[in-house]
Amino acid sequence: MVRIYHGETYEAMSLRAAHIIAAEIHHNPACVLGLATGSSPVGTYKNLVTWVKNGELSFKDVQTVNLDEYKGLAPDHDQSYRYFMDTNLFNHVDIDPANTRVPNGLAEDLAAECAAYDEMIASLGYADLQLLGVGNNGHIGFNEPDDHFIKETRVVDLAPSTIEANARFFASADDVPKQALSMGIGCIMAARRILLIASGESKAQAIYDAFCGPITPKCPASILQLHKDVVVVADRAALSKMLEAGATVAENGLVTI
Ligand code: GLP
Repeated sequence: MVRIYHGETYEAMSLRAAHIIAAEIHHNPACVLGLATGSSPVGTYKNLVTWVKNGELSFKDVQTVNLDEYKGLAPDHDQSYRYFMDTNLFNHVDIDPANTRVPNGLAEDLAAECAAYDEMIASLGYADLQLLGVGNNGHIGFNEPDDHFIKETRVVDLAPSTIEANARFFASADDVPKQALSMGIGCIMAARRILLIASGESKAQAIYDAFCGPITPKCPASILQLHKDVVVVADRAALSKMLEAGATVAENGLVTI
C-alpha cells in the first residue's frame, strides 16, 4: 500500500520525512535504518541533526545500512557516498560509527563485497525503515531501468541520464564514476517500511510512472506498489504530473490518485 503526502516545498517535504524517521527511532531506538544519498535527503538529515543537538532524538543504538556507493571512490573522496553520509549526518549525531554501513567502492573482490553486504543486511533482520530518493529515470538506489528487477546487491552500470544528472556534483561528466555498487530490489522490498522522498519538476514523470503507471523494471520505483507499507513525501513540483492527471490533495496533505 502506498500513501502519498504533499509538502508544498522542499523544506516542508524534508520536515515531514524527518518526522517519520524520528518516529521510527522513538518507537524502536535500536532500529535498522536504510539510508539514501543525493540532494533529496539533505534537508531531512538537517532536521534530524537539529533534533539530536537539541536533545530530542538519539541515534545511540540505531543501525544504518546505505543503499549504494560509487565504484572506485575512496571513503574520504568528497563525492563518495560514505563521505556524504559522514558529513551530512553521522558526524553530527550520536551514532556509533561501527553501526553505520556503506558498500566499499574500493573492495578488491566486488562480487564478494556485494554478497557480504546482502548477508549483513539479512543478519540485521533487514531495514525497519528504508529511506529512498528516486532518479529522474525512476531508479531507486542505483537500480537502473532494465528488462527485469534484480534482487541482489551488485555492481551496476550507471545509465547515461544518471551520469548526466550526477555530473553537477563533479568537475565534469567525465569524472562521474560509470559504475556503482547498489543494494538490490530484494533488500529494499524486504524493509518493513519504506519512505520515498522526491523534490522538483525533474522527478514529476518518475513519480507519476512509479505510482500511476504499470509495475515494470523500466521504472524500478514502480515495484514499490507491491510493498505493504510505503509512504511517499513529495513537493508540489514532483507531484505536478500526478496533479495534472487529476490527483487531489486533502487538508492533511494526503494525495488521492
Ligand atoms: C542518485 C542515488 C539515488 C538517489 C537519486 C536521486 O544517483 N543513487 O539513491 O535517490 O540518484 O538523487 P537526488 O536526490 O540528488 O536527485
